[in-house]
Amino acid sequence: SVYRAGTTAPVNIAVVKYWGKRDAKLNLPTNSSISVTLSQADLRTLTTASCSTTFTEDSLTLNGEVSDISGARTQACFRELRARRAALEAANASLPKLSTMPLKIVSENNFPTAAGLASSAAGFAALVQAIANLYELPDSPSDLSLIARQGSGSACRSLFGGYVAWRMGDKEDGSDSKADLVAEASHWPGMRALILVASAAKKGVSSTSGMQQTVATSGLFKERIERIVPDNMAAMEDAIHNRNFEKFAEVSMRDSNSFHACCADTYPPIFYMNDVSRAAIRAVESINAKAGKTIAAYTFDAGPNCVVYYLDENKDAVLGAFVETLGSTSGWKAGIGAQVGVLDETVAEILRDGVTRVIMTGVGEGPIKTDEF
Ligand code: DP6
Repeated sequence: SVYRAGTTAPVNIAVVKYWGKRDAKLNLPTNSSISVTLSQADLRTLTTASCSTTFTEDSLTLNGEVSDISGARTQACFRELRARRAALEAANASLPKLSTMPLKIVSENNFPTAAGLASSAAGFAALVQAIANLYELPDSPSDLSLIARQGSGSACRSLFGGYVAWRMGDKEDGSDSKADLVAEASHWPGMRALILVASAAKKGVSSTSGMQQTVATSGLFKERIERIVPDNMAAMEDAIHNRNFEKFAEVSMRDSNSFHACCADTYPPIFYMNDVSRAAIRAVESINAKAGKTIAAYTFDAGPNCVVYYLDENKDAVLGAFVETLGSTSGWKAGIGAQVGVLDETVAEILRDGVTRVIMTGVGEGPIKTDEF
């Protein structure tokens, strides 16, 4: 017989960035980080895991294509999950011996595998959660985050919905380097995200290699992990707990800027942002200047796409400014009136030429078990 289980897992976008490893083998970070889990209605990975004695070997299919599973990261996830299942089987002889059967994993995104859309985070979170469901493991999301972390660092935060911290930990074996919940999505129901997709091409320098180059060569990086990130972590948790958008926004923007400054300080330098990204920053600044307070925040990962966080109560001012220039770009949901003249002419022109699609989304839940095979 074939045993089967499935899950979905969300994308997360960090507001205090993970950038740097202290142990590349265990995938342990140089600093803690915080992210916001985005709504799975717009962005999610759906993964089914099955196992059977009739399968010949472990396999993984990603968006219809056979994917290489020989990499150390995927192998670490398989090994850890099998060990947990084997422990259950050892304690209860009546359980089927799933841990010894080959695994078949089938994974699909509901969004294009585009640069900087954090598909590895949703991907590894879904892989780990799907196998955990198949094996009926009693492990909590935090326990599973330890495994997902070894697949991809940012994946550990996609085991939760809402606002999520990855605590770096200080143990050498990594057993305390895991994700935990800062606040549920419902804690701050007005939070929204607008993604300006500036490129669908595969990114130049992978985050895995980029962050190692930064650790090895950047002098600014030392200041970032010793002072800037600890301060940002404290301020960000506070801002989330108190639903203080202005603080949330300032820390998000400062932390993104600090991360990209460390990339520029890497030798040779790494550039993830491009002219379109910088135009998006100018646009957010104009929106905030027009409002007379901070109502929008930008953040950028290891690619040029801009994620803008804002509150629903300010949607007319924030979205309206972008609709004026990007109204014909695919992805807009109806019903937003254009706010004329907020953006500078040159900024508007760069955005019009460079933004290929927009994704309007919000904050969402963690992995959801599914029978949709
Ligand atoms: C800029 O999680 O992709 O998105 O652990 O090597 O797989 P690996 O790196 P990855 O790095 C993400 C970096 C980031 C910031 C973040 O998500 O915190």
